[in-house]
Amino acid sequence: MKNTILLVLAIFAIFMSNSSAFAEKTEKRILVAYFSFSGNTRVIAKQIQEITGGTLFEIKTVKPYPREYNKVVEQAKIEKQSNYRPVLKDKLKNPGDYDVIFLGYPNWWGTIPMPVATFLTENNMKGKTIIPFCTHEGSGLGSSVNDIMKLCPGATVKEGLAIRGREVNNARNEVSGWVKKVRN
Ligand SMILES: Cc1cc2nc3c(=O)[nH]c(=O)nc-3n(C[C@H](O)[C@H](O)[C@H](O)COP(=O)(O)O)c2cc1C
Repeated sequence: MKNTILLVLAIFAIFMSNSSAFAEKTEKRILVAYFSFSGNTRVIAKQIQEITGGTLFEIKTVKPYPREYNKVVEQAKIEKQSNYRPVLKDKLKNPGDYDVIFLGYPNWWGTIPMPVATFLTENNMKGKTIIPFCTHEGSGLGSSVNDIMKLCPGATVKEGLAIRGREVNNARNEVSGWVKKVRN
């Protein structure tokens, strides 16, 4: 009798570990969403995508930013001061499909670029885990993590990663160590 019970329990355990429904429930679904003007943040986003196997999504504006550095700096300043929300080119399909969002951006004027603010207000972040990463030229994450928290009530915002723009191609080990730490 005891052996029969043990056998039934063993079969049940094997069934549960192979069941795709069970696997889907326990596995976190990951999105790697990023905005990048000159390409640095894109490099880190792709590294995170490779490490996690998540889905990559680029946040792009309908109206491109001017390529001339002084002009984009000036425009970004005005957009930040007026709390502007640039219109995005693509909508994220099925935002409800994701539990964890790695969110990448360059530090612009000490915080997130305004297209990232549009992305966060356009998609309901309640109940999701947001993991910020940024590239910068000296200011680190600035006030971006706090600003993300303000825009996403009900979301859990984890410790962010800041990488210097010129270091992105040497950052893979640091990125992978950080991903291991924050993803669970
Ligand atoms: C509009 C603008 C504003 C910026 N503001 C800052 C800043 O406040 N602090 C900083 O460290 N870097 C600043 N930077 C530098 C970028 O954060 C850095 O070059 C970043 O790696 C660019 O990422 P991307 O190539 O993904 O656009 C700024 C760059 C631009 C274009």
